[in-house]
Amino acid sequence: MSSSQLFSGDSWAARFRALPKAELHVHLEGTMEPATVVALAKNQGETLDESTVATRYATRDFNAFLEAYKWVTSYLRAPADYVLVARRMSEQMLAQNVVYAEVTLSAGVMLLRKQDVEANFCAIREAVAPYESRGLHLQWIFDAVRQFGAAAAREVARCAVKLRDAGVVAFGMGGDELARPASEFRKVYDYAAANGLRRLVHAGEIGGPDSVRHAVEILRAERIGHGIAAAADPNLMALLAERFIGLEICPTSNLRTGALAQHLGRANASLSDHPLPRFFHAGIPLSVSTDDPAMFGTSLASEFDLLEQMGLGKQQIMSIAEGAFHGAFLPASEQSAFFEAFRAKAEALSLL
Ligand code: HPA
Ligand code: ZN
Repeated sequence: MSSSQLFSGDSWAARFRALPKAELHVHLEGTMEPATVVALAKNQGETLDESTVATRYATRDFNAFLEAYKWVTSYLRAPADYVLVARRMSEQMLAQNVVYAEVTLSAGVMLLRKQDVEANFCAIREAVAPYESRGLHLQWIFDAVRQFGAAAAREVARCAVKLRDAGVVAFGMGGDELARPASEFRKVYDYAAANGLRRLVHAGEIGGPDSVRHAVEILRAERIGHGIAAAADPNLMALLAERFIGLEICPTSNLRTGALAQHLGRANASLSDHPLPRFFHAGIPLSVSTDDPAMFGTSLASEFDLLEQMGLGKQQIMSIAEGAFHGAFLPASEQSAFFEAFRAKAEALSLL
């Protein structure tokens, strides 16, 4: 339903879905629906069916997830492949009223596969331009893969700096958080920041509170990808709140990678175990994100639907949606424009 057809008598959830949203933690490579993977495989001369992709995606632990991620990214071989995926991602975003997204690209994986990062990125930028003129504002994060080490991360940072004026806003790091310590990457982050890039780190997803602390204190992360391990350390929670360091929370991802269960020391976890409400009440800036929506069978709209099940009230959910714009790596004037648009729409939909 288009938002212009909505009235104040419509359900709260329907009106909430019509609000402009920001998505701060999504990997382009994780947005490939099974049908897209099948299409890419076909172009590459391989017969694959959607159920095989779905089975590959149905992971329950972190290593299986990383394997599935490695597998699916192997179908991204040429700029044209990235073009297809970027178009479909943009369509999905606009369909959910996402107006702003910081999208992560696994530049570390591109380099490992000896791809031309600049050629891929330029093709992606061209592919998304028509969607940007329809109201989707995108910025890009180049992610290194932690287990590939500091030299490979430095190459990613170098590419990110080179493409800074073409829309790369941050340097980040994902992959296996337990593989290498933050200290190895300090110089790479300092180089990226000295050249105008913002600092992001996946931390406290499967690693413990120290991993988050090191991301903050050694790598000077400005936002943390996941950070759920902070729930075990009240001092760390206080530090995040005090320094206004946001956590990009991806609830379904944390269930599907087994990250939450691992922190609880159990075989399984459920939504009611998630620390998001505790983070919220501790005053830590939060955003809700999808991480790898196609792989986890989710969407930004579905992640927001989960917040009520987690016990948050409607105004609290509104403040999380609005807060994502606050955490965005945007100049203050652009941030204010998004806030104003959010507020105006919320008012028009009687959501305030
Ligand atoms: N964590 C680590 N590596 C990743 C992730 C993640 O959430 N998503 C894609 N690569
Ligand atoms: Zn991620």
